[in-house]
Amino acid sequence: QTILEAIEVGYRHFDTAALYQTEQPLGEAISDALRLGLIKSRDELFITSKLWCSDAHHDCVLPALKKTLKNLKLEYLDLYLIHWPVSVKPGEYELPVKKKDLVPIDLKSVWEAMEECQALGLTKSIGVSNFSCKKLETILSTAKIPPAVNQVEMNPMWQQKKLRKFCDEKGILIESYSPLGAKGTLWGTNRVMECELLKEIAQAKGKSLAQVCLRWAYEQGVCVLVKSFNKERMKQNLDIFDWKLSAEESRKISQLPQFKGFPAGEFVSDDGPYKSLEELWDGEI
Ligand code: A2P
Repeated sequence: QTILEAIEVGYRHFDTAALYQTEQPLGEAISDALRLGLIKSRDELFITSKLWCSDAHHDCVLPALKKTLKNLKLEYLDLYLIHWPVSVKPGEYELPVKKKDLVPIDLKSVWEAMEECQALGLTKSIGVSNFSCKKLETILSTAKIPPAVNQVEMNPMWQQKKLRKFCDEKGILIESYSPLGAKGTLWGTNRVMECELLKEIAQAKGKSLAQVCLRWAYEQGVCVLVKSFNKERMKQNLDIFDWKLSAEESRKISQLPQFKGFPAGEFVSDDGPYKSLEELWDGEI
C-alpha cells in the first residue's frame, strides 16, 4: 500500500535489497500499479536492489540476482549494488552479521560477476554501496565496467565531501541514504532531525527540516533516497524543486560538525578482515 501511495504521489525510483525483505512486497506493488493503471509499463520505474554480504562471492552473485528478480517478479533491475565491501560465509541474510562468519571480500572476482549480470541484461547498471575512495580505486583498477553508483550515508551531518569529489572525478554518481539521518533505526541518528541550525533555516524559509535536508542534498547534485510510510510526508518530501537555499544557508550547512550515524562496527572484528573502523572505511571516518 505504501508503494502504491508513493507511485500515486509521483515517486518512480525504489530502492530495495535482499537483506530488507522488501523485494516481494515491492514486486507485488509493481504488479498492482500496472494492473491499476498507475503506470503503463515497468520501464517507467527505476528499481535498485543489492547483493547481500553472504552472496558476495563470485559464484553466488548471479544466483542471488536471479532470486532477487524472482522476488520482484521482474525481468531486469535498473541498478544492482554490492551492499557492503564485506563478505560473510554463504547462507544467512541478517544484520548484524555473525562476526565469526566474516571473510575477506575478493572485490575483483565479485565485480566480474556483477559485470556478467549486466552483460546478461539482468540489470541495466551496476554499482556499490558503502565504499571508500580506496575500495573504489581497487574496483576501478580491474573493472571493465566502472561502478555507476556508490550509495552511501549522506546528510548535512555526514556530508562526504572527500568521497563526493572523488566520485565526481570518476563519473560515479553518489546516492544518499539516510538523508534525514534515519532516526530510530539501527543505522540511524537523531542528530540530523535535532540539528539547531537546520531548525533555524527551516523556520526562516517556512519549510520543514526534512525539506531543508532534501533540498540541500539535491543541490549537491546527488541522488536522494528518502523513506516515508506517510503519504503527507511523501508529498512534502517531493516539494523541494521550486525554491532553493541561499548561499549563506548553504555555507552554514557546509560548516556543520560532522558525525557518521552508522559506523558499522558490526563488520569489524579482531579475527576478521577489518580489524578496526579505520580499516573498514580506509580512514574516511
Ligand atoms: P515516516 O515513515 O513516519 O514518515 P531516512 O530517509 O533518513 O532513512 O529517514 C526516514 C525516517 O524519517 C522515517 O522514520 C520517516 O518516518 C521519517 N520522515 C520521512 N519524511 C519525513 C518528514 N518530511 N518529516 C519528518 N520525518 C520524516
